[in-house]
Amino acid sequence: MSTVTATQAAYVVAALLFILSLAGLSQHRTSRSGVVWGIAGMVIALAATIGLASKSITATGLVLIVVATAVGAGIGLWRARVVEMTGMPELIAIMHSLVGLAATFVGWNGYLDVDAELSGSLLGIHHAEVFIGVFIGAVTFTGSVIAYLKLSARIASRPLTLPGKHVLNIGALVAFAGLTVAFVARPNMGLLIAVTVIALALGAHLVASIGGGDMPVVVSMLNSYSGWAAAASGFLLSNNLLIVTGALVGSSGAYLSYIMCKAMNRSFISVIAGGFGTPAAAADEGEQGEHREISAEETAELLRDASSVIITPGYGMAVAQAQYPVAELARKLRERGVEVRFGIHPVAGRLPGHMNVLLAEANVPYDIVLEMDEINDDFAATSVVLVIGANDTVNPAATENPASPIAGMPVLHVWEAADVVVFKRSMAAGYAGVQNPLFFRENSQMLFGDAKQRVEDILRALDSLDAPVREMAGSSR
Ligand code: TAP
Repeated sequence: MSTVTATQAAYVVAALLFILSLAGLSQHRTSRSGVVWGIAGMVIALAATIGLASKSITATGLVLIVVATAVGAGIGLWRARVVEMTGMPELIAIMHSLVGLAATFVGWNGYLDVDAELSGSLLGIHHAEVFIGVFIGAVTFTGSVIAYLKLSARIASRPLTLPGKHVLNIGALVAFAGLTVAFVARPNMGLLIAVTVIALALGAHLVASIGGGDMPVVVSMLNSYSGWAAAASGFLLSNNLLIVTGALVGSSGAYLSYIMCKAMNRSFISVIAGGFGTPAAAADEGEQGEHREISAEETAELLRDASSVIITPGYGMAVAQAQYPVAELARKLRERGVEVRFGIHPVAGRLPGHMNVLLAEANVPYDIVLEMDEINDDFAATSVVLVIGANDTVNPAATENPASPIAGMPVLHVWEAADVVVFKRSMAAGYAGVQNPLFFRENSQMLFGDAKQRVEDILRALDSLDAPVREMAGSSR
């Protein structure tokens, strides 16, 4: 079998493994095996590609490939080992930026090093591929860098609202279309530089224009763009596996963005067009009345007397790593006969499924962890809701204030319960930068401090509330 045939066969196997990986990653139970399929596919893909390249490059070239692979793998292993769960979205965003940058370089390389055998319409197609590849790659690159800066709080998550921002975006797209036609007719470096600059600016502007609350959609959308950028590189490099893999990433990312937009009641087109049609975000409007505070001991008493409790965790639970004491609290309350359930918002935390992963890690039974739609009607009949480090996902302004930047986003209706205890460290706004009227409601009380420490305080307080009962039981024996 020739090397080329062996490589193509290996590519088919790798592509099948990637499809198995995506299927595995779609469910908690099978997600670990999904990761293993993905790793196996990537190892085969890399080995086959290097094997194919080794036939046509010099020994120095081969050494460079091996060194680059080793350095890249080293950096990847190191980052994956040290990254905190809360830092995953930024890591993903910066990885997407690298895919975008690579696609831009591949595009430029395709212009500088044209296959001498290409002529006529094939040459025209090649130049169109170069131009489109550079455009998608550059948009993905700067868009992902801005997403990284926003997600890691290095820049404000508030949307940038330049005057005429939609005209700027549409203008950039029209310019791209016009320049593509001109480039295919007369390829030249000036046009390629122009499209690179326009795409870099467009990527930065599209993501900068999107508000904090919509960032989950942006991450999956950039995931999709990075897939299309890789597919474009696949066409330029005549690499079938890159085309297939890029299309898998591009389409699954697009579908995830669509699902997220539906969950957050956002228009898909509006988000990919850089917040088109969404109201201009108001800054943090400041405090909206008096808030009341509650102590851990008082919360323990409230819980002791409750018949039903719903816990709604958010990003703060992940930051505090409070899932273990929270799981212990749920177990203790259930032992006392209290009905305890968890209400999970689709974008709570910073990753799809973030809260589910943390709760599974702490061995909370799956059957008491419910999605927002499954539990939202039950808050009105609930004694106590514990909001643990959640903010935007329990903000009533989303349903009550049409001028709010998060208006229309479905939220957990925690305020309908008899009592709400909010665990956080201050009165600061959530990720979207919007103040939360929940904190000033009659039935809400704030339990300030680190969520893990406060839940541990409640566990101790519950024990001491039990102590006299145990002593009485012991002395009556
Ligand atoms: P957020 O709105 O991000 O609020 C989290 C709250 O946790 C903050 O108000 C913070 O208040 C509190 N907190 C932080 N550290 C804490 C600690 N150690 N102990 C106690 N509290 C702590 O949370 P959410 O309700 O989960 O909403 C998620 C937001 O992130 C949404 O806007 C969503 O759109 C966005 N987002 C989500 C994703 C995905 S895919 N899930 C990705 C990107 C962005 P203090 O500072 O006062 O403590």
